[in-house]
Amino acid sequence: MPGVRTLGDWSAIEALPPTPLKDLFAAEPDRLEKMVIEQSDIRFDFSKTHLSASAIAAFIALAEQSDLKGKRHALFAGEIVNPSEGRPAGHTAQRGEGQAEAVAEAKMFHGRMRALIDAIEAEALGPVRHILHVGIGGSALGPDLIFDALGRDKTTYEVAIVSNVDGVALESVFARFDPAATILAVASKTFTTTETLLNASSVLQWMEEHGVVDPMSRVIALTAEPDKAVEWGVDETRVLPFSESVGGRYSLWSSIGFPFALALGWQAFEELLEGAAAMDRHFRSAPLAENAPAIGAFVDLYYTQVRHVETRAIFAYDVRLRLLPSYLQQLEMESNGKSVTSDGKPLGRPSAAITWGGVGTDAQHAVFQLLHQGTHLVPVEFIASIEPGDVLDPEHHRQLLVNAFAQGAALMAGRANDDLTRNYPGDRPSTMILLNALEPRSLGALIAFYEHRVFVNAVLLGINPFDQFGVELGKEMAKGSDDPAVRAGFDVSTRALMEKAGL
Ligand code: F6P
Repeated sequence: MPGVRTLGDWSAIEALPPTPLKDLFAAEPDRLEKMVIEQSDIRFDFSKTHLSASAIAAFIALAEQSDLKGKRHALFAGEIVNPSEGRPAGHTAQRGEGQAEAVAEAKMFHGRMRALIDAIEAEALGPVRHILHVGIGGSALGPDLIFDALGRDKTTYEVAIVSNVDGVALESVFARFDPAATILAVASKTFTTTETLLNASSVLQWMEEHGVVDPMSRVIALTAEPDKAVEWGVDETRVLPFSESVGGRYSLWSSIGFPFALALGWQAFEELLEGAAAMDRHFRSAPLAENAPAIGAFVDLYYTQVRHVETRAIFAYDVRLRLLPSYLQQLEMESNGKSVTSDGKPLGRPSAAITWGGVGTDAQHAVFQLLHQGTHLVPVEFIASIEPGDVLDPEHHRQLLVNAFAQGAALMAGRANDDLTRNYPGDRPSTMILLNALEPRSLGALIAFYEHRVFVNAVLLGINPFDQFGVELGKEMAKGSDDPAVRAGFDVSTRALMEKAGL
């Protein structure tokens, strides 16, 4: 939106010519060298995006005006970077990169988690075969992603992560889990979330109905509000706290990671943290022109602010990463889906794009038509691993990778045809993120890359990425709906719907 300015001066960026991708490659013989960053055994190839050398220079200038370096320092130094809630953001401290006291506290809490895991493995809670984790949003999406990505065939435990309050989700777990061999992990940063507490109560009831003598003795609480968990009935020895400064959507590194630390082993959990820490160090020290999270954010901002795209799509060409698009939806949209700056002024320009996506090659046969020939410009991100996750005929993995690469090439090249129904305009951007192998370290680094990319986006837009007041109103209205006085304040359509449903 012209005339409205956030922290820096966007005019040089807005004046960038819309040079086609093919021309960028022709004009910059060293484009691959400049636009490909190798970090943590991951190749980030931004070359098929419209970022030119001058665009990167303009974004670096904007980053300087926005004090990105100072804000990055503040993030790692444990300063208040979440002003609306008066908190630092403690996720990097969880992996050992941050302010000394916060790192020491995280280590202490991790030690507590490890001790409980050792005790469970020594059968202190009796035989355990099933881990039922209930939590929602950031208290579910991270563990679900990690376990789905790394857990196949790697554990003797069966793990279920249930988030939805729809009882159908829990019932399907009850049908396959043995209540006497199940432990319940209740994951809630605030320990007040209605869906999670209702699901947890129903699990206890199911255990009781199936002869478990003291169901509460099989509960582990993962929370930043240990007192509330104790008040709810969990024994203090089975409460695994984490710091309030760790945001919900940034919490998989804390005790919220309990189910995969138990199921996949402590070493895998540590490697995940180490991978993230390596990306933290890269983000802190690499010059912005060679900094993967920074360049990723410049790509995002170029398309949202200059090309006015409304969505960006992420396709995992690896079934093990099928939950990554949903994980990133929360990380990106809950963090940067704001219309005011961190000091409460109207943003005056688009905030984060809508994140969506799916899994390749399936998505090719479903949604790619629009990406190739639709009227919307959608920057696409492909994620794949060179090492296969399967041991079948290598042709499976070859086809998977070749398809991912071919889609990126086709989006960029297009194919002219006089028959417009067959004309592919091309010049459509994509980023390729290619892992050497999908393992705890690389997955940790990949997730930390996205966290920092979200942070850079936020700094350049002037947004606070660490609060989420927008989700509170609906929660409050649902909670208050039993109160006739509150209900009377609802609009006529909503009141009629409640009546129709017999609520
Ligand atoms: O509704 C949004 C949210 O606050 C998320 O940010 C959070 O991850 C989720 O709810 C769950 O909250 P809690 O961990 O406190 O149960």
